[in-house]
Amino acid sequence: MCGIVGIVGHQPVAQRLIDGLKRLEYRGYDSAGIATLDQNEICIRRAQGKLQALQDLFTQDSINGMTGIGHTRWATHGIPSEANAHPHSSDKVAVVHNGIIENYAHLKEKLIKKGHAFTSQTDTEVVVHLMTDYLNQGLKPLEALRQTLADIEGAFALVILIKGDNNTLLVARRGSPLVIGEGNGESFIGSDALVLAPWTQQLRYLEEGDYAIVTPQGSQIYDIDHHPIDRPLKTINISADAATKGGYDHFMLKEIFEQPTTVKDTLDSLINADTETLKIPVNIDWNNISKLTMIACGTSYFSTAVAKYWFEMIAKLPVEVDIASEFRYRESPLPTGGAALFISQSGETIDTLEAMKQAKEDHQTTIAIVNVPESSMDRLADYSVHTKAGPEIGVASTKAFTAQLAVLACLCLDAAIKRGTLTETEAREHLQHLLNLPNEIYGILQKEADYQQVAHRLQPARDALYLGRGTNFPIAMEGALKLKEISYIHAEGYAAGEMKHGPIALIDELMPVIVLAPSDKWMVKTLSNLQEVIARGGIAICFTDCIGRTHIEKDGIPTQIVEMPESHLLTSPILYALPMQLLSYYTATLKGTDVDQPRNLAKSVTVE
Ligand code: F6R
Repeated sequence: MCGIVGIVGHQPVAQRLIDGLKRLEYRGYDSAGIATLDQNEICIRRAQGKLQALQDLFTQDSINGMTGIGHTRWATHGIPSEANAHPHSSDKVAVVHNGIIENYAHLKEKLIKKGHAFTSQTDTEVVVHLMTDYLNQGLKPLEALRQTLADIEGAFALVILIKGDNNTLLVARRGSPLVIGEGNGESFIGSDALVLAPWTQQLRYLEEGDYAIVTPQGSQIYDIDHHPIDRPLKTINISADAATKGGYDHFMLKEIFEQPTTVKDTLDSLINADTETLKIPVNIDWNNISKLTMIACGTSYFSTAVAKYWFEMIAKLPVEVDIASEFRYRESPLPTGGAALFISQSGETIDTLEAMKQAKEDHQTTIAIVNVPESSMDRLADYSVHTKAGPEIGVASTKAFTAQLAVLACLCLDAAIKRGTLTETEAREHLQHLLNLPNEIYGILQKEADYQQVAHRLQPARDALYLGRGTNFPIAMEGALKLKEISYIHAEGYAAGEMKHGPIALIDELMPVIVLAPSDKWMVKTLSNLQEVIARGGIAICFTDCIGRTHIEKDGIPTQIVEMPESHLLTSPILYALPMQLLSYYTATLKGTDVDQPRNLAKSVTVE
């Protein structure tokens, strides 16, 4: 969602701020802007739409200054427009904000009564007027910030530029992440490490409730109780090409094709390939866990849904899976001795983060699987395991998903060994399948022509259905989500056995039905469902392996087959997710949609 960048330094900042905003584009936005302090004047450039509009505006009418702030906005309060774009300003301050000021309406009313004139529909603007009001009362900037923070409620990250204070930015964090980077005589502020990567890798992460005064020489941070505090300086290594497309047309395609490496890197961090044994970096006492609750949103939720089958079938551990936004308000009684596992690419999704806080209050052992080290969930959980997918820029999650599944497969084996539900030999057999995954992934990604051909059948459709059973039921849902979000074709993923209970009514000769049927214990049943689709004239496309092909041909089922390698309980959902990603990618490119930044979507969902 909204992205923040700030620089306080000794060289002109405006173009660098725009460059920083380019690295935040992936979060999703509808307008952008920058503000600098030039000869003690606040200068602002803002534009609705893509960053190119802001760049063009800046090229025609540039601004100077060595201190500045920038913002990409994903609209919450107020339509996407230049007037609602950040920074918002008065004659004294300019403000960028990520999050929501929940009590803004009440504050706005009070400020209007005091004579403040508002120019936008945003909640953010109350921060501008509160700061201005306190500065007008004679408070020093830091004191004005303290008073403002005491007035506002909600989740936010704020960066404030103050007229008359050329070498200073004020920052505050409550809920939304914010990081301060230290460079050579310059300081940087960003929503994440990626935006700061080309400038510095020396970072201080603000904790919940922290605020700070940032100068070119560094920062003075204060904690929620207003005590000066040192937050550790961390070195975060992000490769310089992480934010480039590396020759691919889209980040999404690049990230899909990175999966042999990202899955391998993830597995290498968890398995000792020489001894074919696990080396999980955290020691979870699976034997004393009575029940596992897994919680996440979107694609990450589908990885929990796959893992439920694994943990129940292999580790014999009862698992409940929940969507974070539902879990939070369901008042689900969590068992004594229970554990709660949270999965998130960003580690910042607000619903998942809040659900984790709730589970902690309910005395659950909390486990996080995150892709962003030092993210809020990473730091809050009792145990945290990292996916090694590297920065995921495409809004539609691909490589993070398969890396999550790789971690979950290893954690499941860890649980099974500790709980005594797998012998060492059985565990080794599973591990051998996992170790072979990167090669299998590579092979599947080479069959682009097959997926492009199926994409041509999906392109004209208004709706599509994805069917699967067992561990491939969540993959059917994930395939449908991928198609929806980047090609805007309405799609549903269903448990194949549920089709008869409703969705079968939708099937006609215009409806593509993607059937996932690896040769597992569910295959014969799934192929019966495939027959039911064909009997009603649906356009059936079946993803199966050579054993499935033999069945289909023996039974004379008239379906298009896309052949997959033979798979195994732990590898099949990972392998079958790949063609689903490519199908949606090729369908979207045929339709000409904005693959990396689909409409209305944001990458890191930091509002409820
Ligand atoms: C879909 C997608 C989203 C995310 C969801 C959770 O392609 O990317 O559904 O999976 O917003 O995000 P994280 O994993 O960052 O918590």
